[in-house]
Amino acid sequence: MPKTDCGKSLSLMSGGETEKALRFHKSFPQYAETPLVNLSHLAAYFGIKGIYVKDESFRFDLDAFKVLGGSYAIARYIAKTLKKDIAEIDYNTLISDETKQKLGDITFYTATDGNHGRGVAWAANKLRQKSVVLMPKGSSQARLQNILNEGADASITDLNYDDAVRRAGKKAAADSHGVMVQDTAWEGYEEIPGWIMQGYGSMSAETFAQLKAVGVEKPTHIFIQAGVGSLAGSVIGYFANLFPDNPPVMTVVEASAADCLYISNLAGKLVGVKGNLSTIMAGLACGEGNTISWEIIKNYAQFFVSAPDWVASRGMRVLAVPLKGDDKVISGESGAVTAGLVFTLLRDTEYRDLREALGINADSVVLLFSTEGNTDPEKFRDVVWDGEYPSANK
Ligand SMILES: Cc1ncc(COP(=O)(O)O)c(C=O)c1O
Repeated sequence: MPKTDCGKSLSLMSGGETEKALRFHKSFPQYAETPLVNLSHLAAYFGIKGIYVKDESFRFDLDAFKVLGGSYAIARYIAKTLKKDIAEIDYNTLISDETKQKLGDITFYTATDGNHGRGVAWAANKLRQKSVVLMPKGSSQARLQNILNEGADASITDLNYDDAVRRAGKKAAADSHGVMVQDTAWEGYEEIPGWIMQGYGSMSAETFAQLKAVGVEKPTHIFIQAGVGSLAGSVIGYFANLFPDNPPVMTVVEASAADCLYISNLAGKLVGVKGNLSTIMAGLACGEGNTISWEIIKNYAQFFVSAPDWVASRGMRVLAVPLKGDDKVISGESGAVTAGLVFTLLRDTEYRDLREALGINADSVVLLFSTEGNTDPEKFRDVVWDGEYPSANK
């Protein structure tokens, strides 16, 4: 049960709101449900009932879930500007000449580790609008190229993620046609990130339907990775709305170099991590949490884990080379950290206490989200072929 009031945040992720997002995404010609992979042999190997992984590497050919948020936020923004209900907007309306004429020229601004910016650039491109995308210091060339390929004015800055967000915000404010589409909230900037979280809800809604179709009424445990926590707030909020009296045990997993939600939970309020946030989990390298998401997370996440890089690399290897009979999942660093964590909890004896605290046993059904595919091929090969970041325990 919630410890304190979530305010408006939980209702953001109600079933009704999520349905609106899913209806919108289903109108895309590129739309197809991403697979929910049943790692039944891995579950049997560890003596638990189920391990399911939602594989977002198939999302609109963009290799990550992120486009769900950016595209929905842009649609909601357009609906609001044109004084329409989102139910009246679908993909064809969005890309029509009529909409373009009514809107005039817009430039969408954002900062990104890669996946969100690619989604925003993709959506802007489809709308025949411009996008400006700033990336933090150290971002991979492959990820930059993917964004440039969508026609964005994209560049790698000398800033960390949080400062890149601030710079994108300033640029948007200075442009009379500029709209900031950022995947995190702060005081005074909450509407667009709320829509982004709702857009991510399409992934949870698909997953729940897929689980039901294989006879799973409710996962007992959900592990969800977090950068700023918009995704975690979205997933946790969705399942907390579905099961208000007995939600699954939900765990937020962060990169230890950028574990702002982990330390916020200890501090009892949202606090940030500074510095260059250096981790292979580029998507999770964010030092300041989303304020509206935090309202959900602080009430419904029961565990917070700060994971070193080897946990992510272990997850990448486990998913890419599964047990015989299980399907493989191609998962990047930020996508695979929860799989690496669950594998570690189930196999390594030194984590027995945490496993017991989580209550993982023979009846457990674990749900994970592999949020990206092979978005940085060079790093992927370093890890999977060459064994970079070896497991701390064997
Ligand atoms: C692949 C991937 N997974 C997870 C996340 C985390 O999402 P959030 O920043 O909303 O916590 C990101 C963020 O960019 C990401 O790219």
